[in-house]
Amino acid sequence: MAQVVLEKVSKVYPGGVKAVDGIDLQVADRELVVLVGPSGCGKSTTLRMIAGLEEISEGVVRIGQRIVNDVAPKDRDIAMVFQNYALYPHMTVYKNMAFGLKLRGMPRGQIRQRVAEAARILDIEHLMDRKPKQLSGGQRQRVAVGRAIVREPAAFLFDEPLSNLDAKLRVTTRGELKRLHQRLRTTTIYVTHDQEEAMTLGDRIVVMKDGRIQQADTPLNTYNCPLNRFVAGFIGTPPMNFFDGTLRQSELGLAFIEGRLAGGGLTFPGEGFTLSMEQLSPTVGRRLQSRVGSRLVLGIRPEHLHLRPPDGQWAAIKVRLNVIEPLGSEMDVSMSTAWHDSIVARVEAQSGVAGGSEATVYVELRKVHIFEPGETGMNLSLETMSPTTEPAHALT
Ligand SMILES: Nc1ncnc2c1ncn2[C@@H]1O[C@H](COP(=O)(O)OP(=O)(O)O)[C@@H](O)[C@H]1O
Ligand SMILES: [Mg+2]
Repeated sequence: MAQVVLEKVSKVYPGGVKAVDGIDLQVADRELVVLVGPSGCGKSTTLRMIAGLEEISEGVVRIGQRIVNDVAPKDRDIAMVFQNYALYPHMTVYKNMAFGLKLRGMPRGQIRQRVAEAARILDIEHLMDRKPKQLSGGQRQRVAVGRAIVREPAAFLFDEPLSNLDAKLRVTTRGELKRLHQRLRTTTIYVTHDQEEAMTLGDRIVVMKDGRIQQADTPLNTYNCPLNRFVAGFIGTPPMNFFDGTLRQSELGLAFIEGRLAGGGLTFPGEGFTLSMEQLSPTVGRRLQSRVGSRLVLGIRPEHLHLRPPDGQWAAIKVRLNVIEPLGSEMDVSMSTAWHDSIVARVEAQSGVAGGSEATVYVELRKVHIFEPGETGMNLSLETMSPTTEPAHALT
């Protein structure tokens, strides 16, 4: 097993597309790191450079202690599982799993032992004599994983391996993959565009946009302390609500004043809401002091909006309730203010709440975020703002 390290890695495709732009990342031995981001952000390209399927334009990739930039894919000691796992249709499951080992000239007895062990771990022992077309999608996916496991590689690379499965199977299979990693502890880099899959699977998640790492952190840190507005909006469903406005100094301390953004400028006709910011820590308060009067963005997660006053400091805003979506124990309530017609609150399910009515919602003030304007505007409301790309536990 091995650590995988990327240093200032870039990829420029012929024609000039910069798909990956100076990525630094350390994946510790035994760690499971998920690369997540919207389609086209460079996840697959990053993975393919690690696998050796794509030339590295700039920078260094290390697997273990070895720089592998010029090492052929088959000599990198890694196994990759794709979305289209392409099993050999004319071979049985056993032969599909054994094929790679046979090519490497492994003795037959040892192959038999490794395939049997992998089949047991994946619970596919009863499928060994079947051909791929006699398997369900989920079973085929397990065989593809089995083919990777038998090689006992230094690292696994997964590129959206669950995309072809239906929603329910995706959830159960991702649970199995997580257990598999807990058992084998093989260093794993896993790519998905699905933030929920990333959150549930990863020891750490690496959020990417436009070929760059926006944040590399534990799932909970990424959720609770997003470094910028992009991460804040990408991680979490329903997404964080954003409001344009500014900070003013009032007698009671700082206050966020919602404004209306039109034609690139911000105006304050006076109908927006005002939230007191007195709950800010001294560090954050001092940082925001210097931004008084400039354009900023307030971020509130749907679960931090309540229909009843919560514990701790809160502020009330008058809204109009639009649509109620029951989810079982919770419900999503979409609502509007004078200028904002798509605010979503996730609240405990309760009866007597109807679309089309006026209501008061309560904002949990300790949970709000303040961002600089722009798609990747920095989160100014964090205690510490330095990005992390180091593993949560020490490299071994
Ligand atoms: N072979 C290629 N030639 C040229 N451009 C490519 C190639 N493969 C991917 N790209 C471009 O590189 C960017 C990143 O692609 P990719 O790594 O596949 O993203 P993701 O896996 O995150 O969806 C995209 O803009 C994509 O169009
Ligand atoms: Mg991809």
